[in-house]
Formats: sequence, structure tokens, C-alpha cells
Amino acid sequence: MDEIIIKGGRPLTGEVIVGGAKNAALPILTASILAKGKFTFHNAPRLKDVDSIMDLLSTMGAVVERDGQTVHIDTSGMNDYEAPYEHVRKMRASILVLGPLLARMKKAKVSLPGGCAIGARPIDLHLNGMALLGADITLEHGYVEAACKQLKGAEIYFDIPTVTGTENLMMAATLAKGTSVLRNAAREPEIIALADVLNQMGADISGAGTSVITIKGVKKLKPVTTTIIADRIEAGTLMVAAALTRGDVKIKNCDPFHLKAVIHKLEKTGAEVQVFKKSVRVKGAAHINSIDLKTMPYPGFPTDMQAQFMVLMSVANGFSVIAETIFENRFIHVSELSRMGADITISGNHAMIKGVPELSGAPVMATDLRASASLILAGLAAKGTTTVSRVYHLDRGYEFLEKKLALLGAAIKRVPAKTKP
Ligand code: EPU
Repeated sequence: MDEIIIKGGRPLTGEVIVGGAKNAALPILTASILAKGKFTFHNAPRLKDVDSIMDLLSTMGAVVERDGQTVHIDTSGMNDYEAPYEHVRKMRASILVLGPLLARMKKAKVSLPGGCAIGARPIDLHLNGMALLGADITLEHGYVEAACKQLKGAEIYFDIPTVTGTENLMMAATLAKGTSVLRNAAREPEIIALADVLNQMGADISGAGTSVITIKGVKKLKPVTTTIIADRIEAGTLMVAAALTRGDVKIKNCDPFHLKAVIHKLEKTGAEVQVFKKSVRVKGAAHINSIDLKTMPYPGFPTDMQAQFMVLMSVANGFSVIAETIFENRFIHVSELSRMGADITISGNHAMIKGVPELSGAPVMATDLRASASLILAGLAAKGTTTVSRVYHLDRGYEFLEKKLALLGAAIKRVPAKTKP
């Protein structure tokens, strides 16, 4: 197991290229279940979570190969409909195979994901929706078993806009008989990206990116060659890194439209943000202003950027309040940031942050994906050396982050851990 060692205090400067989006790649790769044949996915990020979905698809009989940033999936011989516990426990997004399996094979057996570090994360909305589409669902021995003769179009209203729930049902509905309407659907860019790929495959989906998505069922879908969109959370994390270190960084190959909430908040902290067609340039301000923020479903401020902004607020002038409204336990990074000198108090789903002049480097432990990124950011800004252990969390969702930061001038390196986790 590796750890990352950072000597803080260097402003980041230069240009960096953002990779493919994890949360777009995962559903898009599972969409390959919907049609027999050879798919090619370009700009597929080299991440542990993407490896996990590739492993799962190959366990189910697909032939899966990676060639650099391109993933080839041949589903011609795929006939297994089970996603076993060993896979789902590694990555809860494995539940994304449920919709496509039901739609194409009329059967699915998928291990229940269970909770994770950031919250209970139930999948009731996925299952209610599948039942409305006509699936018989049973929960036994830790597995969801679902079967149908033929899925049928239905009106589905989500109590909460769920990202993977919307994706799962959108995929299931593509091959249903008749029209389905998803109401109060999630509006994330990754949903539009998935709908675009499904439409390219021959589906008839309209409204993706709004809260009402209409899917007219079609008889058959075909394999495609496509490119995964850029990762807005990686881009946002690099933007915060630039602001935090009082640097000047151009973040290339991203979609600034997907980053509007992050740009808005970053500008309020005093950073200068220049927006180009496919890139943004962030110049950090000498003094970081405190701001308040609340995580919301897209187009609100993303929960996946909350921990990174908390680091920025830790060294801002004054007080800020961060409200986390999406996941009930997404402040696990706070105790580690406190070990680095941050002054943060938690009350329910609010964090009160009193800016301190400087963080101090310390050994800290990553607890989940975005928490790991926040600790790396804290290390970049801190005085002295920070060692972040358990970086396998980081590897689930950031591609070569330490290499990208090193190219921007950070004193950062990955080493094998000396201590056992
Ligand atoms: N929820 C339910 N029932 C459901 C589904 C969701 O109550 O059946 C609740 C959740 O517990 C949560 C809220 O609805 O309180 C929203 O959760 P959502 O379903 O939207 O989250 P998700 O689909 O499991 C995706 C991303 C997360 C990201 C969230 C929110 C993927 C693979 N994961 O999760 O990404 O934080 O949306 O934007 O797309 C990450 O990349 O670090 C990450 C955690």
C-alpha cells in the first residue's frame, strides 16, 4: 500500500490536463450490457473504480481490454446476469448493472451494496423504479434478484434526485415496451453523457439534463465507439489547488459549463478565474475570503467538492459555514484536517470553520475518495511535511493526481507505505 508525501508551501503554476470522468465512465461502461457486440470507449480514465467495473463485466462474460485511455468491451458472448458480493463490496456503483441486465437479459442478481463511509446510501429508489417498470424484485441473502418477462414503460417519480438511480432506470427503460417518464430526475452532466451514448446506441431519450426525462422504448440497441467526458470534480479539485497555493494554473480539457457553481464560489473567495471554451485559468489571491456554501444536487454546489473547499476555508480570513445536504456522514475529513491545525466545529450537517493563518504538515489518513483529495490539498498548503496514508481511496477516482501536481511544481511523491494500514 502506498502513501503520498508532500512538502507544502509551493505555489502551483503551469498547465494541466483533466482526465475522463469516473462518474460518467461507470454508467457508460455498464450500458454496454444493453447490446451485443464490440464497444470502444475513449478517454476512459485509469482508475480503480473503472477497473472494478471492467472486472465485473468480464466476470459476467464480456471480453474487456484496455489500451491506454481506451477500453474495448465485446459483449457478444455475455450471458451471466450476476454481480457477486466480491465485486459490489469493492464499489457500490456496481449496482449500475441492474438496469441494463434486467432490460437485456430479463434477469439480474446483484449483491446489495450496503452502506459506505460517507453515508447509508440506500438503493430503494432504484428498486421502486424497477418494480414500476414491471420487474419482480426479491431481496434474499444479501442479493437483489429481479426478473421480468418484458419491462414496460412507466411514470417514475423520485423522492430525491438520485444520480445512479436516474442512470439505472434510464438504461432499464431504453428496452422497455412503451414510454417511461422519470420525474424529479437528477440533472448531472454525467446523466446527459449517458443519455447521449444511449441515443447513439439507438435509444430514444429526451430531456436528460432536466428533471423530466422521457424514454421511448426501442426493440434493440447497437454497440458504439464513444468518448467519455472530462471529469468536472478532478477539474474542480485542481482549481482549488491553484487558489489554495496562491498559484496560477490553466486547467485544460474540461467543460467550464459543468463547473459554474464551483467557479462562482471560487471567485467569491477572491481567486481570479478566467473561462475559456475548454479550459479555465485560476490565479490564487494573496488573501482568501471566507464564504458559506451548501451542497446541492446539480446545478448546485457538488458534494464531491465539499471537502476540497473546506480546506480552502480552513486558511481563509474569517468564519465560514458549510452545509452538507446530500450525505449524512461526509465530514470524515474534519478530524484529519484538525490534526493539521484547522479549526473546524461540526454541528449536525453543518461545519463551522474559523480560518487559521497556516496549516501544519502532519501524518494523516485518507478515509474516502474526496476526503483523500482534501488531505492532499491541505498538504500542498501546509507548512512542513504531510504524509497521507491509505491512498488507495484516492486511486479509486483520481488519475495520476500526484504526478499532475508535481508537474505544476508541487513537492509531492508516492512511496510504498512503511507502516501497515
Ligand atoms: N438515495 C436514497 N435512495 C436511493 C438512492 C439515493 O435515499 O435509492 C439518497 C442518498 O442516500 C443520498 C441522495 O439520495 O442522500 C443522493 O444520492 P445519489 O443516489 O444521487 O448518489 P449516488 O448516485 O450513489 C453519485 C456519485 C457520487 C456523488 C453523488 C451525489 C456515481 C458513481 N457516484 O452517487 O460520487 O457524490 O452521486 O452527487 O456517480 C464520488 O465520486 O466521490 C461520489 C461519491
